[in-house]
Amino acid sequence: MRRIAVVLGAMALGIALVGAGMAPVEVHARQGMSEADFDAVMKRTGPAFGGLRKALEASSAEMAAQQTAVLAQAFAETETFWKGRNKEDAAGWAAEARAAVAAIDGHVKAANWEGAQASAKQLQGSCASCHTAYRDKAEDGSYRIKPGS
Ligand code: HEC
Repeated sequence: MRRIAVVLGAMALGIALVGAGMAPVEVHARQGMSEADFDAVMKRTGPAFGGLRKALEASSAEMAAQQTAVLAQAFAETETFWKGRNKEDAAGWAAEARAAVAAIDGHVKAANWEGAQASAKQLQGSCASCHTAYRDKAEDGSYRIKPGS
C-alpha cells in the first residue's frame, strides 16, 4: 500500500512539474502578441505559401507537409492576434485559412493533387481578403497593419 502511495505521489509531482513547465507558454499566448510578433508571423507565411505551391506543382508530399506545418502554426497565431484585437472578420479569415491548410493536408495524404491545388486557391483567397482589409504598404515599400485597425 505504502509503495503505491509513493508511486502515486511521484506521478502527481511529475504532473505538477509538467503543468508548471507549460504555464509560461499559456501566459504568453494570453498576454497577446505585439505587432512585431505578427509581422514575424507574416514574414514566415509568405515563403511557406510559396514553398507549398512549388511542392504541389512537384507533387511532393514531403515538401508540402513541411510547409503546411509552418502555415498551420502561423494561422493559429494569426487568429489569436486578431481575436486579441476584437477583429472578428480578420480572425474569421485566419480560421478559413487554417481550414484550407487542413484540407490541403488531407488531399496531399490522399495524393489528390488537384484537390490540393483547389484548396490552395481557396487559401490564397483568405490571404487576399485579409490583406485588402488590413494590410497597408508604407512609403518605404514595407508592409504594415493599416493604421487605425
Ligand atoms: C487575417 C489576416 C491575414 C491573413 C489571413 C493573411 N495575412 Fe498576410 N498580412 C496581413 C497583414 C495585416 C499584413 C501587414 C502587417 C505586416 O506585414 O506587419 C500582412 C503582411 C504579409 C506579408 C508581408 C510581410 C512583410 O512585412 O514583409 C506577406 C508576405 C504576407 N502577409 C503573406 C500572406 C500569405 C501568403 C497569406 C496566405 C497564405 C497571408 N499573408 C494571410 C494579414 C493577413
